[in-house]
Amino acid sequence: MLNVVIFGPPGAGKGTQAALVAKKYQLTHLSSGDLLRQERDNSDNGARIRKYQDSGQLVPDSLVIEIVKKAVVKKAQKSGLVFDGYPRNIRQARSLNSLFKEIDSEIDLVVNLKLSAAKAAQRILLRGQTSGRSDDNRQTIYSRFKVYRAQTAPLLEYYQKQNRVMNIDGSLDIPSVFKKIQEAISKFQKQSSGK
Ligand code: AP5
Repeated sequence: MLNVVIFGPPGAGKGTQAALVAKKYQLTHLSSGDLLRQERDNSDNGARIRKYQDSGQLVPDSLVIEIVKKAVVKKAQKSGLVFDGYPRNIRQARSLNSLFKEIDSEIDLVVNLKLSAAKAAQRILLRGQTSGRSDDNRQTIYSRFKVYRAQTAPLLEYYQKQNRVMNIDGSLDIPSVFKKIQEAISKFQKQSSGK
């Protein structure tokens, strides 16, 4: 069992790398952004979720935590999970922690993709030309970064205290970032098999 969180600012490559990790290690990829986008098309909460996503604000914990919980419980039987975009604040991290305790598991590794706001914005604007994502525009990117710095980045300290963070340069090309993630996972696996 391996449970990994891919962490980082908007556009850092969380989704791209989480998909590669999921494929290589046979993990289930859980993206809170994707779960919320699906939910907004299929539920009564749709309009509410859209309002938050379109303005770059975090969707309220009461909604997100429930949605992620359901997905974790449904998928946790596989060989593990790779989270992308979750948790996003301390409340979400604590709730995830309790949930994993219930299923006798834990977050093993937090991969922190480091990327400057300027480079991340370039990537998002480029993707915005074809993605159809209503939050891939200059104004919303600014809010997403502001929210990241204020509410999400402080979470790193929470995981650093637990010795789970691996910092990786997210400005490298996609295969190079993935190679570094594989090295981090392999280091973790060696350490835990030696325990
Ligand atoms: P979410 O969907 O999570 O978006 P995000 O965090 O803003 O991240 P992105 O999807 O933009 O980027 P990414 O880091 O995944 O990079 P990607 O691989 O796509 O959240 C959207 C909204 O949903 C939030 O604002 C909030 O409203 C809500 N939400 C989501 N989770 C929530 C939560 N837990 N709590 C509350 N609200 C929540 O790559 C970006 C682009 O760069 C792509 O085009 C990719 O091809 C390219 N790229 C990737 N890697 C590289 C590379 N190494 N070199 C060059 N290009 C690259």
